Amino acid sequence: MLLNKHCVLWFCGLSGSGKTTISMALQQQLVQEGYEVVVFDGDVVRKGISKDLGFSPEDRTENIFRVAQACKNVSQRGVLAISATISPYESHRVMAGEMLGDTMKCIYLDASLQVCQDRDVKGLYAKAMAGEITNFTGVSDIFEPPQHPDLVLHTGQDSVEVCVRKLYQFLCRDVLGTTP
Ligand SMILES: Nc1ncnc2c1ncn2[C@@H]1O[C@H](COP(=O)(O)OP(=O)(O)OP(=O)(O)O)[C@@H](O)[C@H]1O
Ligand SMILES: [Mg+2]
Repeated sequence: MLLNKHCVLWFCGLSGSGKTTISMALQQQLVQEGYEVVVFDGDVVRKGISKDLGFSPEDRTENIFRVAQACKNVSQRGVLAISATISPYESHRVMAGEMLGDTMKCIYLDASLQVCQDRDVKGLYAKAMAGEITNFTGVSDIFEPPQHPDLVLHTGQDSVEVCVRKLYQFLCRDVLGTTP
């Protein structure tokens, strides 16, 4: 089933804030309902279409440009596109917004640095604190919270199920035009 209204869910949040977890759970639910959903997950993108890029500001900009372009191509076909990248800079989200227009919905996964460090799902915070990884968001690179998010999910406090439900309700109301 294709969407009547083109839509890109543009997640942003620290490493460990839950972008992969929430995007996969939402995708699973929507696919069961018959929708087509494509997720551009940061880790997958970094091994694929952006595998030539590093984490300098220039390379981060190029990475976001490519993800936004891919989201645009997919969403224009009526497929729901989800960008699940850290997307730490406001200027990058503005660039994506200029490319995607009203179709882009900024979803802020708001978990504190402390929560994400305590989770340290991939052991990356420990490495970044030890100086083994440079330009690591939250430790040695900035994360700018979005100024005008369309939805904030409190992934440090609410459960995965609650966050996915809130996102689904937002989608029903603002995009699908259905009742949750
Ligand atoms: N409300 C919640 N939403 C999302 N994840 C949660 C929530 N509560 C707890 N978690 C846990 O937090 C972790 C989030 O990890 P996840 O890999 O999804 O983060 P990420 O944002 O994709 O990080 P990265 O940028 O490094 O890829 C998971 O272990 C998940 O089970
Ligand atoms: Mg992830």
